[in-house]
Amino acid sequence: MTKRVAILISGGGSNMLALVKSMTEGHPARAVLVLSNNADAAGLQKARDLGVATSVVDHRPFGKDRTGFEAKLNEALDLAKPDVICLAGFMRILTPEFVAKWRARILNIHPSLLPKYKGLNTHLRAIKAGDFEAGCSVHQVTDELDDGPVLGQARVPVFPDDTAETLAARILPFEHKLYPLVLEKFATGDLSPVNLP
Ligand code: GAR
Repeated sequence: MTKRVAILISGGGSNMLALVKSMTEGHPARAVLVLSNNADAAGLQKARDLGVATSVVDHRPFGKDRTGFEAKLNEALDLAKPDVICLAGFMRILTPEFVAKWRARILNIHPSLLPKYKGLNTHLRAIKAGDFEAGCSVHQVTDELDDGPVLGQARVPVFPDDTAETLAARILPFEHKLYPLVLEKFATGDLSPVNLP
């Protein structure tokens, strides 16, 4: 049975686009919903252009009430009935209750070689630490931020004159390769790690 995939975004949605475009005929999964906490997320229109249903739940009216925000997210997700939820640049922290509801079904892409640099400003932190390599990781989402089992990583060199922007630009194309590879395997129940290049 083809797996149903919901993709959660907050911004440009380039990873979402790579995922949606990867789910062509013969693929074990297909995109059924792109959901954003930000009505202005550029990725929403890109998803619509590809014929994928979109929905928005603005987090701002909920203030610190993450449970209320997630109840609305769950309403949209319950309608879409996803087997897999891909966080793709979704910049909200999820509660343990949300993670429990979708247990073992949520994937995230993070722009660092986890377990290094959980959280924000990953590229700058790698440069400041003097790291010779950086990259991205796809992992299963658990209660702890950026902490679940790693299902794939891609590595790139860090050059002496790198800025956060140049390093991010070197990593992003690898995100677009890695995430679809991991999703395709995950959709068939294969949790063995992917390593790029
Ligand atoms: C990507 O680099 C992704 O790894 C990162 O946000 C960017 C989203 O870009 N995610 C995180 O930092 C999550 N903690 P996109 O909207 O073009 O896919």
